[in-house]
Amino acid sequence: MASTPTSGTFQAYRAGLLHFNDDPAYHANAHHWHEDGLLIVNDGKVHMAGDYAQLVHLLPEGTPVHDYRGKLITPGFIDTHVHYPQTDMIASPAPGLLPWLEKYTFPTERKFADPAHATSVASFFLDELTRCGTTTAMVYCTVHPQSVDAFFGESQKRNLRMVAGKVLMDRHCPDFLRDTAESGVRESEELIKRWHNNGRQLYAITPRFAPTSTEAQLEMAGALAKAYPDTFLQTHVAENTDEVAWVKSLFPNARSYMDVYDHYGMLRPRSMYAHCIWLDDADRARMADTKSAISICPTSNLFLGSGLFDFERADAAQVPLSLATDVGGGTSFSMLQTMNEAYKVARMGGTYLQAMRMFYLATLGGARSMQLEGTIGNFAPGTEADFVVLDPKATPLLARRTERTESLEELLFAIALLGDDRTVAATYAAGNRVHQRED
Ligand code: GUN
Ligand code: ZN
Repeated sequence: MASTPTSGTFQAYRAGLLHFNDDPAYHANAHHWHEDGLLIVNDGKVHMAGDYAQLVHLLPEGTPVHDYRGKLITPGFIDTHVHYPQTDMIASPAPGLLPWLEKYTFPTERKFADPAHATSVASFFLDELTRCGTTTAMVYCTVHPQSVDAFFGESQKRNLRMVAGKVLMDRHCPDFLRDTAESGVRESEELIKRWHNNGRQLYAITPRFAPTSTEAQLEMAGALAKAYPDTFLQTHVAENTDEVAWVKSLFPNARSYMDVYDHYGMLRPRSMYAHCIWLDDADRARMADTKSAISICPTSNLFLGSGLFDFERADAAQVPLSLATDVGGGTSFSMLQTMNEAYKVARMGGTYLQAMRMFYLATLGGARSMQLEGTIGNFAPGTEADFVVLDPKATPLLARRTERTESLEELLFAIALLGDDRTVAATYAAGNRVHQRED
């Protein structure tokens, strides 16, 4: 046990505490559960987490203890794939990915040439994320560098740990959203210098997907990723069968869609691939070998009719997994609603996701996929104090159901299946409260 704290600003939070040190699908003691727990925060970082009875004596005199008894505290949720510019077009109907991009996405993203519009949407988006308990996300901006400045500016104001990047897109898109191989990489590099590791902000090199980048652009994006190995890289892959066929026609020499990215050096630690529905085992093995991660987007995949993610094959290959909303293709900002749909997708594939694992995937699983374990994702001492206070009695139905649950697994399952933004009583980022539900 660490000695009694002697310096800094201490705050303590009393509640049920849940966090992970490993993936519960593979390790028996992967979770920590303290039914009457205490989370001690010092200057925005976790000092200790454990049983209230054991830790309360260690608090310096006068430390405020926030009483959240009856509620659960977990690490803040991590959404590993979401488009902030698509906030205003969530729930726009289209018969599949490609027509949806043409009809809604591109016209909506055009508006982000205007920095005032970008700032106002970024502000709403971040408020919505924190209302849903999400404290970190991997975010696509638009092709406009000013959309990235607007986003990071709003994130910095709230002191959130966010990852974001300028979309690279130099073909198969309207002229008003098109960059060039040279301008895209030059602007990305300027943004890396301005924002990567500026406060809590982190940069992601963001080619939209293979069909909207020329080979020259993919090559330059891969070279940039090599020059800045601690930046992130994010893109879409194997989401939809029409998209897969299109990639095959554009890159006839590639072994597979994923092989296109591999060819340009884009499989590496801190690369995040959204969807990954239509992969084969060779693709999955390459991802595991290169520590490339999968962002599973169930609400989006169901909404756009893209397909069902194969948990069994991804697990067999041991690819790092995480969960994501993919708004505006996704239909909810809530990672609880995302768990709900992930559970059903797994069932349709004949597999079964434990609630415990879903909470892992939405917290430490995300952090690990992003190579950010030790910074966010659990309550290990020294990690950033990003956490969410969940209310098992948030709605009459949830209260009724959770009164009758007989194990932690059942309690978490009910919260995952029935919970949403109403379940989030409060959200904290770096020890500051960034959302409190109005009761
Ligand atoms: N593939 C390329 N762009 C997008 C996008 O904006 N959303 C989704 N879901 N898939 C894409
Ligand atoms: Zn997406």
